[in-house]
Amino acid sequence: MSQVVESLVDYLRGRVAAGQTSVYLDEQAKEVLREFFRRGGRRRKPEASRSAAPATPAAPAPREAPQPAATELVVSGSTAAEKIASLRAQAENWEPARRLGSLRDTMVFSTGNPEAEVMLVGEAPGYQEEREREPFVGPAGQKLNDILKAMGLGRDRVYISNIVKFRPAMNRQTTNNRKPSPEEMASCLPFVRAEVGVVRPKCLVALGGTAAEGLLGLAGSVGSMRGRWHDFEGIPVRVTYHPAYLLHGRAGLQDKRRIWEDMLAVMERLGMPVSEKQRGFFLPKS
Ligand code: URA
Repeated sequence: MSQVVESLVDYLRGRVAAGQTSVYLDEQAKEVLREFFRRGGRRRKPEASRSAAPATPAAPAPREAPQPAATELVVSGSTAAEKIASLRAQAENWEPARRLGSLRDTMVFSTGNPEAEVMLVGEAPGYQEEREREPFVGPAGQKLNDILKAMGLGRDRVYISNIVKFRPAMNRQTTNNRKPSPEEMASCLPFVRAEVGVVRPKCLVALGGTAAEGLLGLAGSVGSMRGRWHDFEGIPVRVTYHPAYLLHGRAGLQDKRRIWEDMLAVMERLGMPVSEKQRGFFLPKS
């Protein structure tokens, strides 16, 4: 292996050891890897050592292996609020997301308290969030506020973010939204990772299956993911249903109880007091 490839492999091993499960590769990086693969892992000889007059025009000089630092974020500032502000500024023109061409222009970062003990992560901003440039301010956000209130928390006591920082674009889009693609989630995941690094919450809540997929790489139903603790960068994660599930009367008492049990687990993890009344929310009346 060349020294460059060895360094890359070492770097990637380090990221895996730190819990990272995916890396973003731009087109140029992918092309370098394809070329490397085509050559059976051998580096091309330097141009100078080949015959002086090639019969066909020389192929472009090999490009160096991808530089992971090129898409790495810089967290600056001394307080958590300053650090989040520095990330927010970098998100505005985040090339990996912009380059996809499938996300809308307005960037929506996060809301709440950067020193909170709990961080909630949704999938992507919708129509209302884009207008107000704040996550969870539409109808699903109202439901989230209700859940937080039942826990005895206001939005000032939690940190709320999304996996994707831009509203996924659609043809003839008005107020309609779509779920973000895996590529769109991967493009913004470095921010979520950096936000978790700044906030260092006692636990995370993934709101819905898409957020769980983006954050934890899980697939399947929320039912199969909830009811136990997962791990993201060393922080315990609880998966629950997206608050939008509570809209339009789709959810029955049992569904509400399931979400509530997830929140009870979060409260216990945070060491919050849980009253008898709270413990009995959404249980069938006997
Ligand atoms: N749904 C989400 O997942 N995030 C928002 O910010 C709003 C709705």
